[in-house]
Amino acid sequence: MTTALGMGSLSGQAGYLAFLVARDGEPDVLRHTLSRREAFYERLAHEPVQSSRRFDRETFLRNLARRRPEPGLDAHMLWLLATAKVNQAERFGVGLAELYGKMTLDDPVRVHIGLQEHYHTRILADVVELFGLPVHHRPPALSARVIVKLIIGTPERWSRPLVGCSEMAGVVIFRALRDCGIALFADEPAVAARIRLLYDEILGDEIGHVGYVASLLGPAGRTLMRGLHRVLGLRLAYEMPELVAVLGRDEIARRFRAEFRVDEMAAELPGRAYAAATI
Ligand SMILES: [Fe+2]
Ligand SMILES: [Fe+2]
Repeated sequence: MTTALGMGSLSGQAGYLAFLVARDGEPDVLRHTLSRREAFYERLAHEPVQSSRRFDRETFLRNLARRRPEPGLDAHMLWLLATAKVNQAERFGVGLAELYGKMTLDDPVRVHIGLQEHYHTRILADVVELFGLPVHHRPPALSARVIVKLIIGTPERWSRPLVGCSEMAGVVIFRALRDCGIALFADEPAVAARIRLLYDEILGDEIGHVGYVASLLGPAGRTLMRGLHRVLGLRLAYEMPELVAVLGRDEIARRFRAEFRVDEMAAELPGRAYAAATI
């Protein structure tokens, strides 16, 4: 089943490519840039936002290097650590995929997706920077590394439902972090708005990735992808101690068990998300 959201008569994968070209502009693979994304960043640079809240840099860096956060951290610090660490997982996946040559240049959709993932690491670093904090690149938790390596080392026919499941998990986790961040920083409306804007940039892309993977799979593959999402996706999220600490296991489970309506999610972000197929 394919759905076309907002692209006139085009649907499915052709519609998705047309959407990507319109949203991203020209890809430059050597520079890892997309022309319209660069323009978006330039606009943001002209409207810088900085939180007036101060965080202890040493505490942040010390906990960034830890597997589990120290006890007694407040929700704001835990959320920042969760954001910085999700960045590490993204970055690791992007780097490995390139290393193993999975970013094929002959498929324009994949070129866009690969470059979008690059922007995600940059966007997440920007979120942390709203609070004057840096992001260091270190490998993510073991479970994330295992999944990333599994995906990259497996033939595509088998790895697709696994890729799809991690894209779905990404959507759920980014949505949760977005909603949580907006609530935590509600007393600074400009900061909350920038958190929403940046996270929605990532979410729009990830929703597209889920729809694209779904469009490559038959009914059995999509069923497998949904099943993996419920089991593996939830486990992946539970392996992120800062996320668990800030959201609670019940809330994370609730979000993973909710029906995954990729078409409705895409409709929430007009112009920024497109679902080539439903899951
Ligand atoms: Fe991503
Ligand atoms: Fe993705």
